[in-house]
Amino acid sequence: MDQQDIFRRELVDVQDVPLFWSMAQEWSQVESFEARPDDLLIATYPKSGTTWISEILDLIYNNGNAEKCKRDAIYIRVPFMELIIPGIENGIEQLKSMQSPRLVKTHLPVQLLPSSFWKNDCKMIYVARNAKDVAVSYYYFYQMAKMHPEPGTWEEFLDKFMSGKVCFGSWYDHVKGWWEKRKDYQILYLFYEDMKEDPKGELQKLLKFLEKDLPEEIMDKILYHSSFDVMKRNPSANYTTVSANEMDHSVSPFMRKGISGDWKNQFTVAQYERFEEDYEKKMSGSTLKFRSEI
Ligand code: A3P
Repeated sequence: MDQQDIFRRELVDVQDVPLFWSMAQEWSQVESFEARPDDLLIATYPKSGTTWISEILDLIYNNGNAEKCKRDAIYIRVPFMELIIPGIENGIEQLKSMQSPRLVKTHLPVQLLPSSFWKNDCKMIYVARNAKDVAVSYYYFYQMAKMHPEPGTWEEFLDKFMSGKVCFGSWYDHVKGWWEKRKDYQILYLFYEDMKEDPKGELQKLLKFLEKDLPEEIMDKILYHSSFDVMKRNPSANYTTVSANEMDHSVSPFMRKGISGDWKNQFTVAQYERFEEDYEKKMSGSTLKFRSEI
């Protein structure tokens, strides 16, 4: 397939959720994915700290041995299940040939998750990040990662984000859907802002959820190697090994800023006001609360 037939194409809906055209085309492969009982699922809306939590979990699985975690790029160590790009990537195939215990990444909204995860009662970790920082991060990511359609201007992109017309659909439905599901399944629901504020406390939560005990010095190692500055320099974590056709770091690096509250540098006052008014409506009735700065 020609490059121009693959990149910058319009999204295609699967059950009303916009996805990359090739995911929609190969949806039956995703739907029938066979989870294993000892899989650990990492579920997030895009740009919410997926890579960060993935690196932390791989470090935990390898007892803080950073060299072992450099064995491969993060997208090989933690395959992105539903990512299918013809001739380039297939998360389903990658996972089939992977030994257990597997770390599995997904951005799917809860209603689209393959049913085998529920049947096997797999443990799942969901990371959520405040909407305004996600929107900004997603805007820059759309520019650099060419599987997405062109984002347009920031104003145009923000409109698409608010109406859920971006890849993986509505942020609002995504965070609320997984929040509700945690009541019935083994889901640890974490927040990016908490991880920034108290990385050690959140690491302890993770270890408890995984029923793992690690000595203090290993915990400190994990925190060091998963810090933004160290991950930004680590080619196994920073996505610089992806081909430039797929991701162009000269437009915007994958490891961009790694902070909370960057939305203040992007939103105009008018955009902020419109966003907040709409947010209240979309999130009303939910017990889910976010912090937009720390
Ligand atoms: P920014 O664009 O705001 O910098 P995902 O991995 O879900 O795609 O999320 C990417 C976002 O997480 C980017 O946000 C990226 O910089 C940030 N990120 C990646 N690693 C991080 C880390 N160790 N600490 C804090 N933020 C991190």
